[in-house]
Amino acid sequence: MTTAVKATNVHWHEGDLTRAERFGALKSRGATLWFTGLSASGKSTIAAALEQVLVTRGVHCYRLDGDNIRMGLNKNLGFSAEDRAENIRRIGEVAKLFADAGVVALTSFISPYRKDRDLCRDLHAKATGGALPFLEVFVDTPIGVCEQRDPKGLYKKARAGQIKGFTGIDDPYEAPENPELVLRPATMSVADSVAACLRLLESRGILG
Ligand code: ADX
Repeated sequence: MTTAVKATNVHWHEGDLTRAERFGALKSRGATLWFTGLSASGKSTIAAALEQVLVTRGVHCYRLDGDNIRMGLNKNLGFSAEDRAENIRRIGEVAKLFADAGVVALTSFISPYRKDRDLCRDLHAKATGGALPFLEVFVDTPIGVCEQRDPKGLYKKARAGQIKGFTGIDDPYEAPENPELVLRPATMSVADSVAACLRLLESRGILG
């Protein structure tokens, strides 16, 4: 579904500051690291640990987390395919703004549908002032492991029919086909996952 455009008679206002000037003066390079995976796959744990390391190293980064964003910016959205698409579109736009500002945005959302993630990738590719890095990180934890962890008891509720349309149970998760990175928390420590993310950021010249 395409987003209805209700804003008419609006004109993009270009500032005088270029991306290169901003990143050069701030000594930072913005990017989005997009974590995707099932609920309880470990996305938020890895993103939080990575955020800790990056901030300690003086890298300006910020974490956007599914549950947290759904308590504020996106509190008016549920879990229908349409609402999830809008949830992800808004986060894609917000992450792009963070990246444009020179921040490394760490997003952890299930983002189960490929087309919604691809739209976010496209938003970054077509960013005003030049493409911004969009790095998709697939947190590949088997559903059996997620279900066993079940920190919020949601899989149990979904199995009992108390939550409808739960990702992995009665709503699909479409795994990325060409992610920039795959993490497997079932067999990797959080520290190993963080190290792999740091290597990815370094290999793309995002860390100074
Ligand atoms: S997404 O599908 O739109 O990307 P998002 O990451 O924002 O989801 O939110 C997922 C979190 O919402 C889960 O970790 C879980 O705590 C909660 N949740 C509540 N209902 C559902 C549902 N039907 N499917 C998946 N997660 C749900």
